[in-house]
Amino acid sequence: MNTAKLDWAHAWTGGVAEAPSAATAFIERLRNEIPVLPFLSLPFAEELTAQIEVYEPYLRSFRHMLLLGIGGSALGPRALQKAFAPAQDRPGCNGPWLWIADNVQPDWLSEMLAKLPPKETIVVVISKSGGTIETMAQYLLVLPWLQKSLPEEWRDHLFMITDSSKGFLRDEANKYALRSLPVPDNLGGRYSVLSAVGLVPAAFLGIDWKGLLNGAMSVGRPLAQAPETLPDHPAWHLAQWAWQMSKAGKSQVIYFCYIPSWSTFGPWFCQLWAESLGKDGRGTMPIPATGVTDQHSLLQMFLDGPADKTCLFVSAPADTSSLPMPQDLPPQWNYLNGHSFGDILEAETLATRATLAQKNVPVVHVSMPDDSPYSAGKMMMLMEAATIFTGWLLGINPIDQPAVETGKKLARARLGMPGSESDAQRLAAFTDTPSVFQPF
Ligand code: PA5
Repeated sequence: MNTAKLDWAHAWTGGVAEAPSAATAFIERLRNEIPVLPFLSLPFAEELTAQIEVYEPYLRSFRHMLLLGIGGSALGPRALQKAFAPAQDRPGCNGPWLWIADNVQPDWLSEMLAKLPPKETIVVVISKSGGTIETMAQYLLVLPWLQKSLPEEWRDHLFMITDSSKGFLRDEANKYALRSLPVPDNLGGRYSVLSAVGLVPAAFLGIDWKGLLNGAMSVGRPLAQAPETLPDHPAWHLAQWAWQMSKAGKSQVIYFCYIPSWSTFGPWFCQLWAESLGKDGRGTMPIPATGVTDQHSLLQMFLDGPADKTCLFVSAPADTSSLPMPQDLPPQWNYLNGHSFGDILEAETLATRATLAQKNVPVVHVSMPDDSPYSAGKMMMLMEAATIFTGWLLGINPIDQPAVETGKKLARARLGMPGSESDAQRLAAFTDTPSVFQPF
């Protein structure tokens, strides 16, 4: 049977030898932490499925969804949109359209509000904390736009996805009696794609969101139900590999995706890996790359730059039966006769994997049976679990992100938030340093 599998044949190379597994010490930890790792067991899946089933016709009655959210609240939805609802980026699209506002770019937001038809638009505000400045600023801009445009029915055009009991957004949902779904406790943004955060936009787009969930559960639940199986789990093997590689000075991990439609899983994975693991001077730098595109961009550096790289090489069998090359090719292209575009993709996928291995880049081949939502669910769960376990092995907390809080505080001080005086002083220590300009 064609199934998802990891190929380790070229994983232990580049001078890094496989070390004995440290799993036994972590089985008890896993057992104890299952309740605070909801992404792994997805204990909310059944209830959430019933809730989304109820909301689905309502969500799909709109032509546009404007999603306000950033970080983990945006990257998962975007990955699903690009992978499974690609029509929006192709000619002849008649909707549905998902617009993801994960920045504070003034012209983009102005244009959205000028051109989106409020009557046909649902605004979904996603924030676990309900206090993220970018998302809340967007919400405070969009709320009066909706209220003015649709004085009677604006509430029907707002949907909140946030903490079940606390935060500004939850208060707003309660105050206005808005439709909402919770982000479960202990489910941080970058681990939340398989909650309402990813599944509500997916349902709007008509994506097989149940397939995604089922794929994820097939990887996560066995581990949550039987923590003693940790040493055999592929996520553990990936973590062990990543840990050994980082100890050996391999400081970069390439997420090289040869399923072109899955290319936005690269940024999703990179946020997951970077924000979870970059702590206390530890961690490895994730690099997103898409095959075959980045063969003509990044690959030279991967092959012949510093020998500090490792690679998660993601592929699935290419569709070799459609889109054949036309007949009567010029003589120098005759060897393409009888081949399809899928054959070209397949050949280049194999050739790049072989070249990386022959250049001694440690490669774990994440071989997927197909590019379906079910397979994507499996891959996402594998990466989330591997990230957590890598954090444990590195001796850091993979759930928090303390360093980025500093920048948030300084930005709030800059904007004049009361009580930010000491942060304002820290900022002044930077701005008081005279600039050293060089015009160009
Ligand atoms: O992964 C994370 O926890 C973060 O990147 C968050 O997703 C991001 O900061 C947005 O947070 P929130 O969902 O609270 O608005």
